[in-house]
Amino acid sequence: TSSRSADHYEMVVTPATARIFPGLDTRVLTFNGSFPGPTIRSRRGRAAVVKVTNKMSTPAAVHLHGANVAPESDGHPLDTIDPGASRLYHYPNSQPAATLWYHDHAHHVEAEQVYRGLTGAYIISDSETDALRLPSGEFDIPLVIRDAQFDGDGQLVWKLDDFANRKTVLVNGAIQPTHKVKRRKYRLRLINAANSRPLRLALNPASDVIQIASDGGLLGRPVTRPEVELWPAERAEIVIDFSKFPSGTNVILENTFNGPETPGRQLLRFEVTGSVVADDSVVPAKLRDLEDLGTPTVTRRIVLARDPTNTFYAIDGKAYDPKRIDLTVKRGTTELWEVVNDDGQYNFPHSIHLHLVQFRVLERAGQPVGEWEAYPKDTARVPAGQTVKILVKFDSEFTGVYPFHCHFFDHSSMAMMANMQVL
Ligand code: C2O
Ligand code: CU
Ligand code: CU
Repeated sequence: TSSRSADHYEMVVTPATARIFPGLDTRVLTFNGSFPGPTIRSRRGRAAVVKVTNKMSTPAAVHLHGANVAPESDGHPLDTIDPGASRLYHYPNSQPAATLWYHDHAHHVEAEQVYRGLTGAYIISDSETDALRLPSGEFDIPLVIRDAQFDGDGQLVWKLDDFANRKTVLVNGAIQPTHKVKRRKYRLRLINAANSRPLRLALNPASDVIQIASDGGLLGRPVTRPEVELWPAERAEIVIDFSKFPSGTNVILENTFNGPETPGRQLLRFEVTGSVVADDSVVPAKLRDLEDLGTPTVTRRIVLARDPTNTFYAIDGKAYDPKRIDLTVKRGTTELWEVVNDDGQYNFPHSIHLHLVQFRVLERAGQPVGEWEAYPKDTARVPAGQTVKILVKFDSEFTGVYPFHCHFFDHSSMAMMANMQVL
């Protein structure tokens, strides 16, 4: 039965302290005491059952971002775990290999609870991807990247939507960590877990990276790029070949996204050591066949903008009501969504994230997007004043109510969220 063929995990959502600054205990929220939460590695075709116990004084909801799951395991904002209570989440892991992540989704408090630490990486592998012989094992590293503001005592400063003051960037919970790397290929799984900060990642000394995957799994083929733009909740997998750098080189992973609020550029330092080592990993010219999402039979326009009185972030002018069904879709159909950012006057960026499905980004501001951010996607950036067209096939076996929202948590927890019911 399913419980015998499933992996079981226990997760305790609990306040704890993290050692971010030498000699200081920073109060954070954690899964199992870990900041960010532990990386879960799953296998396609083998379900995971996660028992979550909430030891916080506020409600928790765990959402597995990017996953194909039944509504009762999706962590809907109202489907929370009370303080002191436990519940099971069932993850079928029926989708292709991908870098997913889990995070809190409790109504109205998710922005703060995610900011305080409730995130973690969740990796699905499969035999098709293993057969490609990409870098694996210790050469396959998730990097959970987020920003934060700290006070003089090393404590997190929380203020909703205070993007500009979050000037410290953490990678896997550490400030400007160093990774010793061998002279060979590595696969890095980049996750932007920041509440509201777009990232543009590049190497210094400048060197191309090979992007092999997007939000929901492998691209059709690898794409060589000088930089990778990742907005909140987006993921990319890249391969870096460190054999091309001499031993002793410091290769810096930088955030080059410009703006007055840009924090320090250096995110992570790779220290290249030793002589070139044997490396039987490869990046094949073809990664996989991509699904055909079909022809849309329904077209919708979704407007992301401040409400008319400019007091909250809204979708189609309405504040999120977690009990309201905002639209219904039919399972099996393909829809075209034109997602409009109507906040050009304020220069506010937004994004669109749908639970349950992976979609294709067709165009942004009238231009086709690059293949590295076309498919498979569950989150697409929608810059100020621009329109993004996405093609969504509701191809999951599951039906029910799922949220869609801007994935700037500071916006979604301020009402920029809606519910779709899949029938
Ligand atoms: Cu990461 Cu509702 O999403
Ligand atoms: Cu999600
Ligand atoms: Cu937004």
